[in-house]
Amino acid sequence: MTSSPSGSSQAPFLNASTRYIAILGDPIGHSMTPVLQNAALCELGVNVRNIALRVSPADLPAVVTGARAAGFLGLMVTIPHKVAALGLVDQIDSFGKLIGSLNLIHFNGEGVLGYNTDGYAASRSLGEQGIVLKDARIALLGAGGAGRCLAYKFALEGAAALTVLNRTEARGAALAAEVCQHTGVPVTALPLTDDVLAQALSESTLLVNTTSVGMHPAEEESPVPAELLRPDLAVYDIVYNPLETKLLREAAAVGARTADGVGMLVYTNERAVQVCVGRDPSVETMMDSCLEALRARQG
Ligand code: ATR
Repeated sequence: MTSSPSGSSQAPFLNASTRYIAILGDPIGHSMTPVLQNAALCELGVNVRNIALRVSPADLPAVVTGARAAGFLGLMVTIPHKVAALGLVDQIDSFGKLIGSLNLIHFNGEGVLGYNTDGYAASRSLGEQGIVLKDARIALLGAGGAGRCLAYKFALEGAAALTVLNRTEARGAALAAEVCQHTGVPVTALPLTDDVLAQALSESTLLVNTTSVGMHPAEEESPVPAELLRPDLAVYDIVYNPLETKLLREAAAVGARTADGVGMLVYTNERAVQVCVGRDPSVETMMDSCLEALRARQG
């Protein structure tokens, strides 16, 4: 048996030595994190478990302080806490500082450390599918929290050009100007309409959807008309519910390389365990348990 960070042997159930990582969000009932992270933690043989807690924005500071006092190893934070959490940590990693949000807090005994691992998770997930960011010409749909994170990450990973297409043009323009200013990568902002998309995609090697179009319950929607897809245009959709969105199904049908949103979830959890537990969890175990739970949920 492997010993845990708290010195006890592997526990088949929770006991007085169990340490916790919590994921905080509101809503949180849909989160796959406890399922996939606990599968990997059990396999590692550590006496650490992940729990999901629904926390309102007003309660976030008290919960972070309380979790630290209660000996939690760390916290993962999701919508709507990613920006507010910045003000609750002593230090933040460079990517979190750059994009102004975090998704992981580690209580390391001396202080409260903040990380943003979403960009890492997305880029690792693309790499696993053989989709290269360096020198890519990227059409990025959406300029919300996820769009912002990926725009910065793609620029930092050496994309040759980035076009942000957003329903609300001013929001896309603000993001484009900011990313260009901080990274030096040329970023264009355009409205998300079919004719503009046709032109932008004809000049792109990678299409990335960060909008909620195509997400349950709107499974029969796609942000991109199928006739604009082609074999040499890789497609990444961060949506994971449904597992295969209409956009990904239609991209695969024309022979394009595709990547779905499960990878981002899995690699975010991988990093959380590495940082908070100091061990490498099995990515395969997390992927399998996540897919199994999603399939069961989606019937
Ligand atoms: P997230 O943090 O997941 O990125 P968000 O910040 O609410 O969520 O951003 C949602 C993104 O999806 C935005 O780019 C939004 O466009 P607007 O800026 O115009 O709101 C986009 N979006 C949501 N619903 C959409 C729809 N029906 N058509 C096109 N874009 C949509």
